[in-house]
Amino acid sequence: MCGIVGYIGSRKVVPILLEGLKRLEYRGYDSAGVVYLQDSKLIKHRAQGKLGNLEKIVEEVLGVESHVGLGHTRWATHGAPTTANAHPHGDCKDDLVIVHNGIIENYQSLRTELTKKGHIFRSETDTEVLAHLIEEHLGKDLVKAVRKALKKVKGSYAVGVLWRGQPDIIVAARNHSPLVLGINNSEGTLLASDVPALLPYTREVVFLEDKEIAVLSADSWEVRNLDSGRKINKQVQTITWNAGMAEKTGFKHFMLKEIYEQPQALINTLRGRIDPQSGRVELPEITLTDKEIKGLERITLVACGTSWHAALVAKYWFEEWVGIPVEVDIASEFRYRKLLLNKKVLTLSISQSGETADTLAGIRLAAQLGSKVVTICNVVGSTMTREADATLYTHAGPEIGVASTKAFTSQLAALFLFGSYLAQVRKTLPSNMIKKLGHAIIDLPDLLEENLPELQKKIKDVAERFYDSRNFLFVGRGLNYPIALEGALKLKEISYIHAEGYAAGELKHGPIALIDKDMPILGLVPKDKVYEKSISNIEEIKARQGQLILIGSKGDRQLKKITDHVLYMPKTPTMIPELNPILFTIPAQLLAYEIATLRGCDVDQPRNLAKSVTVE
Ligand code: AGP
Repeated sequence: MCGIVGYIGSRKVVPILLEGLKRLEYRGYDSAGVVYLQDSKLIKHRAQGKLGNLEKIVEEVLGVESHVGLGHTRWATHGAPTTANAHPHGDCKDDLVIVHNGIIENYQSLRTELTKKGHIFRSETDTEVLAHLIEEHLGKDLVKAVRKALKKVKGSYAVGVLWRGQPDIIVAARNHSPLVLGINNSEGTLLASDVPALLPYTREVVFLEDKEIAVLSADSWEVRNLDSGRKINKQVQTITWNAGMAEKTGFKHFMLKEIYEQPQALINTLRGRIDPQSGRVELPEITLTDKEIKGLERITLVACGTSWHAALVAKYWFEEWVGIPVEVDIASEFRYRKLLLNKKVLTLSISQSGETADTLAGIRLAAQLGSKVVTICNVVGSTMTREADATLYTHAGPEIGVASTKAFTSQLAALFLFGSYLAQVRKTLPSNMIKKLGHAIIDLPDLLEENLPELQKKIKDVAERFYDSRNFLFVGRGLNYPIALEGALKLKEISYIHAEGYAAGELKHGPIALIDKDMPILGLVPKDKVYEKSISNIEEIKARQGQLILIGSKGDRQLKKITDHVLYMPKTPTMIPELNPILFTIPAQLLAYEIATLRGCDVDQPRNLAKSVTVE
């Protein structure tokens, strides 16, 4: 998704804009640009491709005496990723420039109307239409002009606007695309799409909400309601993690760092929520009353991508422990089917970013239908956390790599806790089972910590054998089926190898036609209640010369008789099959990472992908 940075203050602006854009690279982009005000002229620099191309252009103006500007990384929606389509975009006379994240759904009709009024467009973008629409309403007051223009707009936006006529302010506004202010009273005020861009300068932030407009000046800021213009008293929040946590700290890629951060992310997510002796779970942030929880007749889970895989795992846990039906939907499908929701149905959204447009739309619809909404989210203050009735945060810290790893296993830990909590309240599990679940998950982080380096070494050998494959299958049964899907997604999204995940029992209903000596298949076959069935499926693959890689339980000697590529997962005395989804995800993440690295792919910012998909 696009990245926005803005600054107005006492410092030179160009280095701040570039540094901010660097910290937003993980959001995914294909062109970039900056604009700053110098000697009452707006100077724009834009470049196609990675930020390095823009840096080459602006390196001789890093020291320019300018103290207000905007920066943008563009993830193309309307118009190819060219320099002409890169932001910032201006009005006819370049007196006014804008950067934008989102989609203006009625931009075509607006463009036609403005063209008739003599506006000349120089790009294919919907964003440029916004610049001309503001120009059309410009009098003496930029805030008024932006408000009038945005009232005519349908769609999502986070915008930063700069006008030569009022050089001492930046105007910002949001609707469905994230935007946050950085408050640093001594050095100025900042604007960004996400917190990492602000951290080198401040941890004091103000999250804008939908239909809010902000006016930033060097030593002050204010937020108003976009429609009424009425001033809003916003809370300044302090970000607890520091800029360093959004750095690679010695790892080659953010993704590898975040794979290794998983034990700590699990510890942070469990902290203070589970009694180490009894295993009992306390979730004070869940504001549902016991009566509401006991009255639940159904739970519906809604998410996208990797977060949807976490939801699929939760279905198994919740139905087993809580004893009520659980539906799981991909968010972009959820919104368009006949939803039979009411106050006796709990809607649980899962999202790392808390900004995914489809998931956001889903919970808004669920709330309209009377369903209580709980969200499991990793980003404090994100839109989903401010709209849900309750939030169960995963404390995984900032996840910079586009491919989700520590956020995913932290989501599973949070869902595990939530399922145990619901079972406690509804008394559907005996206390000894609650204790067993609790002890197992408490011991899991150390097990990962101890074994990650060894697992990576072994996976590296497998990656070297299969990194030039053109296709890959992942199979698993029961709780491991969602992990087969997740392993396939990880490989697909960072190595660009075509990979599919299947329920192992489903192979013979068609996909087995794909099996031959050139097809690598990763099979998740822990010793659990579906082990025998899984082994039968593995034998079916072997009989057709499939290239098998098996991830299994320590001590299972049968696997070595099937294939040479066996990875045994460690276990603890308290380990239970219910936790295999967290444990068995690790080799799948590492395999995707090692193969993508061997293929020279851009592991942290895979092509075409964005970290937070804030468009539908
Ligand atoms: C995960 O590796 C992907 N990058 C993607 O599928 C992601 O999980 C999905 O876009 C949902 O994002 P969210 O968790 O922020 O809502």
